Amino acid sequence: MNLKGIKLTWLGHATFRMETSAGKIVIIDPWIMHNPKCPESEKKVKKVDVLLCTHGHLDHIGDAVEIIKQHQPLVVGMPELCGWLQTKGAKSVSGMNKGGTQTVAGDVKVTMVHANHSSGAEDGGQIIYAGAPCGYVIEFANGIKIYHAGDTNVFGDMAIIRDLYPPDVALLPIGDHYTMSPREAAYACNLLKPKAVVPMHFGTFPLLRGTPTELKKLVSGVEVVEMKPGETIS
Ligand code: NI
Ligand code: MN
Repeated sequence: MNLKGIKLTWLGHATFRMETSAGKIVIIDPWIMHNPKCPESEKKVKKVDVLLCTHGHLDHIGDAVEIIKQHQPLVVGMPELCGWLQTKGAKSVSGMNKGGTQTVAGDVKVTMVHANHSSGAEDGGQIIYAGAPCGYVIEFANGIKIYHAGDTNVFGDMAIIRDLYPPDVALLPIGDHYTMSPREAAYACNLLKPKAVVPMHFGTFPLLRGTPTELKKLVSGVEVVEMKPGETIS
């Protein structure tokens, strides 16, 4: 897999950092300090320009508030989730909804796409409505497109994502139980036809039992890139 200068780092679970050729940092699903799979050396966020949030569950935005207080990045997500993060101290938000595309960090095009899941944020022991869950297609100035599915099952409209925003790389959950299993992720690869797939959202807890090895057995014509937490590809 060649990302032509874009640096993609897996921070464990569903959290990824992307660095553009201009040095801008985009973090998707900020669960870092409390993420048991995030390497110690990555637990201090040095810089972030944009935070992309797929939904309100703790294993996705559990460290958003702390990172927002430290860095005040532009926060992108469903309007309801962005509104809640504003009440927690976010000064710069840009809520959007599915089907929309906006340009962030100068030259990064972010499209919000469908995901099938639930979304609530925990606030003082209460669950509050955080909008619908979503995924993102992130298109960099060099033309590379990365699809982060968020938490979801496989769904037929992934074919629309392929037709409109053909991803070079798909970041797909494979853990099963709360999201797609390797079997569903393999089906998703058939719909999305990415050049490479990076498995995520597995192994963090015993319940998330899908493995990259199972996925490799089930796919053909796509490179399964098994990253290690903290690893960067470019
Ligand atoms: Ni979730
Ligand atoms: Mn999750």
